[in-house]
Parts: sequence; structure tokens; C-alpha cells
Amino acid sequence: MKVFLVGAGPGDPDLLTLKAARLLTNADVVLHDSLIGPAILALIHPAADIIDVGKRCGKISTSQAEICRLLVETALTGKRVVRLKGGDPTIFGRLTEEMEALRQAKITFEVVPGVTAASAAAAALQTSLTQRNVARTLHIVTGHGAERGLPVHNWAALAQAGGTLAIYMGSKYLPGLVTKLLAAGASAELPVVAVEWASLPEQQIIRTSLVKLPEVLAKADPNGPVLLLVGLALGSI
Ligand SMILES: C[S@@+](CC[C@H](N)C(=O)[O-])C[C@H]1O[C@@H](n2cnc3c(N)ncnc32)[C@H](O)[C@@H]1O
Repeated sequence: MKVFLVGAGPGDPDLLTLKAARLLTNADVVLHDSLIGPAILALIHPAADIIDVGKRCGKISTSQAEICRLLVETALTGKRVVRLKGGDPTIFGRLTEEMEALRQAKITFEVVPGVTAASAAAAALQTSLTQRNVARTLHIVTGHGAERGLPVHNWAALAQAGGTLAIYMGSKYLPGLVTKLLAAGASAELPVVAVEWASLPEQQIIRTSLVKLPEVLAKADPNGPVLLLVGLALGSI
């Protein structure tokens, strides 16, 4: 039996792919991340087992090794298994570890893409992430290092690329992240938009500049997932 590693998109069930919706309706077991909301979980067949294996804000409910073990164990029962991940599974989704565990167990799988948070945030802003003569590059970066703390990026390259930066998981180490970008030559006045809960009714949009971002975001104190978009494509503040 094939396992499906499925992207759930940013939260709005209308942004699921038709394939994702069909797989959810037919699954016997769904292992999902904690960010997957009730409207999407409601599409799962009532008789299916729904297992929350999510991790949020460093609060670990299930370790990655345990998720991999559970995924393999469930797949070996022969049931129809969907591993449902927020956004697109190939972007900051720990997909590699899960595919490796399945390969080692000789279990076939298929990856089903989803709408990533940066696309949902850009749609909410009615802004194109790339723009002729304004933003010729789009960098998708994490604001969170694998070893806890700031990630190791080529900050100079990011600051000087002159395109759009989409920063995932950027809230926790935000002051350090902004300091790195400014020190690397990014303009203090660069427009930034923080989008919380993109695509959902709770969506919040905060516009500011790079230099003011840590203070403005600390005041707003969002408790949902936040995607940061930085660059001239975001327009005037
Ligand atoms: C572990 S990453 C997973 C990203 C996901 N695979 C994707 O493609 O969107 C989680 C981060 O994605 C961003 N994120 C996910 N869903 C979001 C949403 N609906 N609104 C804003 N940011 C979101 C936040 O930066 C959050 O901290």
C-alpha cells in the first residue's frame, strides 16, 4: 500500500488540491501536523483514525524519530495512510526524514504538493512576490536554526540580492535576524509585511519597515503562525 505525503496548504480548505481532498476522504489513517485546522480535518472520513503528531513553537509533542516510526508502523498494517503536512511538504516540512524512513522500510510513497504559506500571504496582500525590475529573485528562508538559535545564512547574499525574502518561522529570533540583515547591508527602510494565519478568517496583516519590525511585532504579539515578506515588492509602508 502506498503512503501519501500530502500538503494541506495554509489553512483555508478551499486551497487544498483536489487530490489532497480525495485522499483525505478515502484514508483509513491520517497523521497530521498541529497547524492543520478543524475545517480540513472535517474532510477526513469519520471512521478514520486521526493522529495529531504536531510540533509547535518548540513544544515537542512527538519527536521526529517517533513520527517516522509511527508512519512506518501504520503503513505496514496495509491501511490507507495519509501523512498530512501544513503548506507544501517540500518546504520546511521535515519531508526528507520521513521519505528516508519509508524508503528504508521499502514502503512506496507519493508526495502531493500544497500551497505554501508565502503564496497564501502574497495572495492576501494582492502582491506579486516577483516583479519586473523590482524583485527578480525570491528567497525562501527559515528564521530558525536547526540547532536552536539563528540559522546560518549567507546574510550578505540575502541582503544584496535585491529581491523578496520569504521568512518562515521568523518570530522567535526576530531581533537577531533583523540585526544580521541590517549589518549585511539591507536598508533599514525596506518594506516588511508580517502575515499571521494567512488564508484563514483570523488572518492579520502588519506592515512596517525592517528596522521597526521587532518592536512592531512584539507589540502585536501574534499567537498564530507568521510569515514575513521583506523587500521592495511589498511596496510602500
Ligand atoms: C514548519 S514551517 C512549515 C511550512 C509549510 N510547509 C509551508 O509550506 O507553508 C511553519 C511556518 O510556516 C509559516 N506558516 C505556515 N502556515 C502559515 C499561515 N497560514 N500563515 C502564516 N504563516 C504560516 C510560519 O512561518 C510557520 O512558522
